[in-house]
Amino acid sequence: MKLQTTHYHFNLLKDTERLSAFYEAIKNKGENPNINKKLALDLGCGSGILSIFASEYYEKIQAIDLDPKTIKCAEENTKNFNNIQIINADTTQHEFESTPDLIICEMLDTALIEEEEVLTFNQIHNKIKSYTEIIPYGIINKIEPVCMEDNIIMYEDLESQPKYNIIGESVIYDIIRFKDYINPVFDKTISFYITKNSIFNGVKITTYTLLNQKLICGPTPMLNPELIIPLPKELDAHQGETININLSYTMGKGLESIKINLI
Ligand SMILES: C[S@@+](CC[C@H](N)C(=O)[O-])C[C@H]1O[C@@H](n2cnc3c(N)ncnc32)[C@H](O)[C@@H]1O
Repeated sequence: MKLQTTHYHFNLLKDTERLSAFYEAIKNKGENPNINKKLALDLGCGSGILSIFASEYYEKIQAIDLDPKTIKCAEENTKNFNNIQIINADTTQHEFESTPDLIICEMLDTALIEEEEVLTFNQIHNKIKSYTEIIPYGIINKIEPVCMEDNIIMYEDLESQPKYNIIGESVIYDIIRFKDYINPVFDKTISFYITKNSIFNGVKITTYTLLNQKLICGPTPMLNPELIIPLPKELDAHQGETININLSYTMGKGLESIKINLI
């Protein structure tokens, strides 16, 4: 199948690990005879590829995206699928009228800080019923103390390869299930157990995506690349010691909302 895309969505399509994980999760719901399949929503539909996957199984798919250029591509890509309706809207403001059987929402990024995944799920929260299926199911966030070379916040992705060493044990610091109402403000004290004598001047955040309760994915090149964040000041860390930090950010409000303090 040939799809029309923006440059960004083309890169998303090239990430076959990301795509096959979503395909597997949608197929898994689609082939389940015990769930309703009247209405599916694809929030942040991009090229429309996930709606196309769902169209085989669901009676109707409403695919929503904010970006007018992207919407034009999605309209073109889905024109031969009579059960897909393309809507140009902001999902954090949209009044959702019907109760969907499935919500697909892939506005994912590391720790959900940059994209509006959480704001979207909170907007649609009153339409989520016990039977509503959600893809992805949730995410798991991990954090590690590092000694980093450059004093700037960086993703570890196709374009940038920050240099750093991990100097302590990893901590799973947050688990989010999209069916729950989520407080977008994250603010927590985290304790690191240091395993190397080193300068401690940053942290690395890794986000794993739970497509469903059994299928975990990532990071992949276009799905939640690892994020390396410098501390406001560096510290001499010693093997065997425990160091506490306070980490806060607001999901959906961008990297500038991140604050880290040594305690
Ligand atoms: C990571 S892309 C996912 C694209 C698509 N699911 C795919 O697999 O190719 C996220 C998409 O969400 C859209 N988006 C971001 N914020 C949005 C919002 N508030 N309302 C609607 N769409 C949004 C972006 O324009 C982008 O196309």
